[in-house]
Amino acid sequence: MRIAFVGKGGSGKTTLASLFSQYAAKNNSRVLALDADINQHLASALGYTGELKSMGEDIDTIKGYLRGDNPLFTLSGMHKTTPPGSGSHFVTLDEADWFMDRYTAEVDGMYVAGAGAIPSGNVGVRCYHGLNGAIELLLGHMIDRAEDTVVVDMTAGADAFSSSLFAKVDALVLVVEPTMKSLSVYDQFLPYTKEYDIPLLVVGNKILDAEDKQFVEQRVGALVACIGNSLFVRARERGVMIDFNQIDQALESQLAAIFESVSSVPRDWAVLERKSHLFHKRSVHSWAGVSVETHIDPHFSLERYARGYLRQVS
Ligand SMILES: Nc1ncnc2c1ncn2[C@@H]1O[C@H](COP(=O)(O)OP(=O)(O)OP(=O)(O)O)[C@@H](O)[C@H]1O
Ligand SMILES: [Mg+2]
Repeated sequence: MRIAFVGKGGSGKTTLASLFSQYAAKNNSRVLALDADINQHLASALGYTGELKSMGEDIDTIKGYLRGDNPLFTLSGMHKTTPPGSGSHFVTLDEADWFMDRYTAEVDGMYVAGAGAIPSGNVGVRCYHGLNGAIELLLGHMIDRAEDTVVVDMTAGADAFSSSLFAKVDALVLVVEPTMKSLSVYDQFLPYTKEYDIPLLVVGNKILDAEDKQFVEQRVGALVACIGNSLFVRARERGVMIDFNQIDQALESQLAAIFESVSSVPRDWAVLERKSHLFHKRSVHSWAGVSVETHIDPHFSLERYARGYLRQVS
């Protein structure tokens, strides 16, 4: 499964993305956690204390690898939305994979990587989407297994829709607090998720009582999970990295509910590919004003390639 945590600033995206990653790892899934937020907090939320290599800073190297021998475009003509074709390289969650080896850090059996923060010399000059474009590109070239878990921690609010990253996952998990402002993000998201047919799973967070729950549910319908004020989370926020095994039953059961809901969303490689072509045409048209039809390999099928690869390794 591939999911992205979205929602209003401060709603709990990073907290839930990290807890969900830990839950999936505990349940024997291979986990890759990707930080696509301008404020890079996911690795530390997972307990990683080192410095992650910035994928965004290295986007040209990543492009060079993923392009492989694809003859349809040059490296300089490759965009963050450019889809794979014959000759492209792909990324998997195998430990020895090119990407995993270079850009991820291991923490408690999970792997974490990040787009990186805007370098200080580029503040006010470089747009953040240029950095998290590396994650967009990566997901476009990823062959993950159904039992793998890829978790993306996204930027706050509707900014999550300012790139095609949201269309490269199987489902979006929207974290909402019981407030008008948090729910207004749901209203913003709904038309996008409907237009692009992306499953939207809503999780209530910091829900203190039945009134809070009712307030949220009357607007969004039944919640996939409902999380209260967690003492476990608060203790971790005080800087004590309590082992995940000490999580309380109530919180773990809500993580299980999210896991179950997302697991029921089937992977549809053909749909992922169709959307990637759609956004590539749109995005490059709007950036460069040139036709990119020629970048799309008419003889390549992501579905055929992915299924063939997965059959071979299973
Ligand atoms: N269920 C919870 N119980 C207690 N505290 C929580 C809970 N969920 C989140 N928090 C706290 O709320 C604050 C914001 O959470 P978090 O950083 O995960 O939000 P975010 O959506 O990732 O924010 P940003 O938009 O800034 O990236 C943190 O201090 C976190 O510890
Ligand atoms: Mg965050």
